[in-house]
Amino acid sequence: ITFFFFFTVFSSCNNESVHKHYRIGVSQCSGGYWREKQNNEMLRELLLHDDATMELLCAVDNGKKQIEDIQYFIDNKVDILLVSPHDTTALSDIIGKAYDNGIPVVLFDRTINSEKYSAFVGGDNTKVGLLMAAYVATKLKSQGGKVLEITGDMQTSPAMQRHKGFISGLSNSSNIEVVASVDAGWLGPHTSEATDSLLRLHPDVDVIVAHSDYMASEAKKVADKLYPDNDYIFVGADGFGSPGLGVEAVEKGLLNATAIYPTGGEEIIQTALKILRREKFDRQTLLPSYLVSTPQEATLLINMDHAINSEVERV
Ligand code: FRU
Repeated sequence: ITFFFFFTVFSSCNNESVHKHYRIGVSQCSGGYWREKQNNEMLRELLLHDDATMELLCAVDNGKKQIEDIQYFIDNKVDILLVSPHDTTALSDIIGKAYDNGIPVVLFDRTINSEKYSAFVGGDNTKVGLLMAAYVATKLKSQGGKVLEITGDMQTSPAMQRHKGFISGLSNSSNIEVVASVDAGWLGPHTSEATDSLLRLHPDVDVIVAHSDYMASEAKKVADKLYPDNDYIFVGADGFGSPGLGVEAVEKGLLNATAIYPTGGEEIIQTALKILRREKFDRQTLLPSYLVSTPQEATLLINMDHAINSEVERV
């Protein structure tokens, strides 16, 4: 199935001779709530500017489709390309091709194995891993313990960096053992399968750390079925990944903690516009991450998010 998202924001200024009208091509690697939030933030930010329109294509986790999507934007000679690449290797060539064709490229959320891009805007995944490690170290304190790490697709930069941050964050805790790090590809069924076999093998783990809230919740379902009286600690990442997950799960006591991974839609568009308008821009914008590990913190954050959303809707 091919999904096709098409958004345009029409310029209120028709006088091309006064204002240049920029066409922004956005290539999303995946769908889902977290990315919808990001897309909406980009659109909202664009509404504040009258010199740009944006068209968005979603590759629904299909690297081949994303290559076609980017080729479409090259053929259509967009003024700038914004890409969240599906993985680090397969997308490098086509992104390099756009860049070599003179199209500035802003990578967001995920990176590639090449320097052929103009700027990167996204969450700090190494920090996400470090935050998870610090939480685990605090929870297990002096008695130590065992940890299961369920990673995202290790061909994608967030999973690689979260893993690296997590392992390095535990390097000083010799009494904490990561009994397995397994690649569940950001996917629910892989997570369930991996959790089931690993928990049968290591029923005595103390903590299950997953690279996304979705995977953490899927792992918890399996653990609760397998060992209904378990007191495993569950840690996820993303924060606002989907209703009922992330901070909402922390609020309900289903997850013990989540590392907030900001979507940063506004910052992505702001960087793109600076490049288009030939203003000074940062090549690397790392958005801050922080841990939410109590129901009270989660409630506060949910209320703040609601307040911001209703304020935006009123404007
Ligand atoms: C959403 C997602 C998130 C993760 C991000 C990493 O599509 O899978 O769960 O944080 O992508 O790129």
